[in-house]
Amino acid sequence: MIGAMRCRSLLGSTSLLVIALVIALVASGCLRAPATEAGLQFGYAIDPNWLADEPRYGEIVSADANIVTPENYMKWERIHPEPDTYDFAVADSIVARASEEGQAVRGHVLVWHRQLPAWLTEREWRRGELIRVLRDHIHTVVGHYRDEFPDVVRHWDVVNEALMPDGSRRSSIWQEVIGDNYVDLAFRFARQADPDAVLFYNDFYDDFGVRFEAVSEGMTVVPGATAGRSDCAEVPKCAATRDLVAGMLARHVPIDGVGFQGHITGTNPADYDHLARWTQDLGVEWAVTELDISLPADQGDDPALLAAQAEAYVSVTEDCLDAPNCDTVVLWSVGDADSWIPSASGGVLGHAALYEEDYTPKAAVLEMLTLLEGAG
Ligand code: XIL
Repeated sequence: MIGAMRCRSLLGSTSLLVIALVIALVASGCLRAPATEAGLQFGYAIDPNWLADEPRYGEIVSADANIVTPENYMKWERIHPEPDTYDFAVADSIVARASEEGQAVRGHVLVWHRQLPAWLTEREWRRGELIRVLRDHIHTVVGHYRDEFPDVVRHWDVVNEALMPDGSRRSSIWQEVIGDNYVDLAFRFARQADPDAVLFYNDFYDDFGVRFEAVSEGMTVVPGATAGRSDCAEVPKCAATRDLVAGMLARHVPIDGVGFQGHITGTNPADYDHLARWTQDLGVEWAVTELDISLPADQGDDPALLAAQAEAYVSVTEDCLDAPNCDTVVLWSVGDADSWIPSASGGVLGHAALYEEDYTPKAAVLEMLTLLEGAG
């Protein structure tokens, strides 16, 4: 691993040789030590196929991250493929690697409306039955990591994307069969399974919601055209989340934090410090759990856009560093090659990660290094 001292002593030099050395260093990752020194859990959503196939991917994950999130392998369709079968093999391989590297793992995700197995979605459930299935799933999955990898998986995204942009509940098997109460139940089951786990509600609140729906209707994205909205009260879903969390706390439901995913379209992110400030009033944490900052697919070489992207990465991370109740920033891919954005946007967007398709660092890596070095 690259030591913080080596990174720091090289930063700020104007000698060409030293600048070349810094570029070589950041090429293999350099962010872990300064992030740790700054008290930040920083890392990536990762996929074991990329770890196996692309050596630079693994090098960057080792050298940049002190926390990782399994991108897909803890989701129901992977970890609970049949009613009576749990398949922990791949998720465990991710957690075991992280544990060997001294990295934490963010558990993702216990309740979501997507990536569910057919056995769950393709039959009718009675309410009591589905509650038992939910309880069994949460107890088994959280209990597995509590017992097999103590202290590695401390944070869980318990419920993901339960709300619509207008603040109403999203339709899902959980909502339709169990009703509003499924959110409270999921958090109670998670707390029963691991009294020490840090339990988060996770959702997206910024440009992504508005812009992504526009993209999926085939509209062209103009980066920066949507002003980042920074007042939670102006974003109906954010206001609804605040009410949800306040209600949960009043009902003594165990919730510890709110994840702001941060799938940002364009380069004009909200002021997260402002957007998330209400969490502090309620006494819970917030985190940036899935940050990526996408550009139009055909403009990934535009130096002005790349500079704006670097600034946007720094601004979101800085908001977390500055907040007394935020200590986590997780990026939702390592490089552009492993990013979900091109396929999720139907090819309209891309270039969302810190590293290029071939895992060379973008300007944003150096900017992040400078920010983290300054924060330590
Ligand atoms: C995405 C993955 O990145 C894709 O590989 C998969 O096909 C779909 O899910 N919000 C979340 C993540 O909470 O789990 C999603 O991950 C991205 C949106």
